[in-house]
Amino acid sequence: MSSGDTRCLVAGNWKMNGLLDEAMSYVNELRENPAPEYVEVAIMPPYTLLHPMNKPLSDKDVRLGAQSMYFEEKGAFTGSIAPMMLRDAGCHYVILGHSERRDIIHESNALILKKLHASWRVGLEPILCIGEHLEEREAGKTNDVLKDQLSILEGIEGNKALTVAYEPVWAIGTGVTASPEQVVETHAFVHEELTRLGLDCRVLYGGSVNPGNARALMGSEGVEGALVGGASLKADSFMQIVEAAANAVS
Ligand code: 13P
Repeated sequence: MSSGDTRCLVAGNWKMNGLLDEAMSYVNELRENPAPEYVEVAIMPPYTLLHPMNKPLSDKDVRLGAQSMYFEEKGAFTGSIAPMMLRDAGCHYVILGHSERRDIIHESNALILKKLHASWRVGLEPILCIGEHLEEREAGKTNDVLKDQLSILEGIEGNKALTVAYEPVWAIGTGVTASPEQVVETHAFVHEELTRLGLDCRVLYGGSVNPGNARALMGSEGVEGALVGGASLKADSFMQIVEAAANAVS
């Protein structure tokens, strides 16, 4: 495992949600529930909440991450955030290649590769998101799409900190999760591809994970954690998912 942490990871991607007051109440609620030993917990709030959440989360052994970043070190890039700024704010993780950024902001594989290198330069652990659209799955092209998205890892040394998240685009924010068979089959393919590339890292599942389906998903072969969107916005449901993951791995 190249990430250094072999525990299963449950990470909450808040996307463009969260104001300071809500975030502080959330952290207080999290602090009331001890994190289970075999599950690593992380939160990726919007940039504005990174600094204020850093200390209270690290006291609780919850890791902090960002949802994106630019690859340049610093300079005239209005509106962008630099890798070192995320380290400075206490981030351990950065999500790269999320489908919302690939689709809405048109981030390419080439740009994502630059960001991967930039994250490693400053000691951030990237969570590389991959996933197919519904039309691609229906056309039997899932593996080709994933292979192409993973191809940027060709030639990367196996000791780099890295986590991959398989998030079928059709399952994101839709309430539809991939079936257990689809999850097992696709995670097996992703692991196989990673092995071919000389990499051995955790592969998370993302897409409509909730307290009701987390246990089954987390217990599926080849799934080493979850990247949770909507259901991570309330501390209560997020902690239930963490608990379900703990039950699935214990
Ligand atoms: P939902 O859990 O809201 O489907 O979002 C998943 C996701 O995109 C996490 O990165």
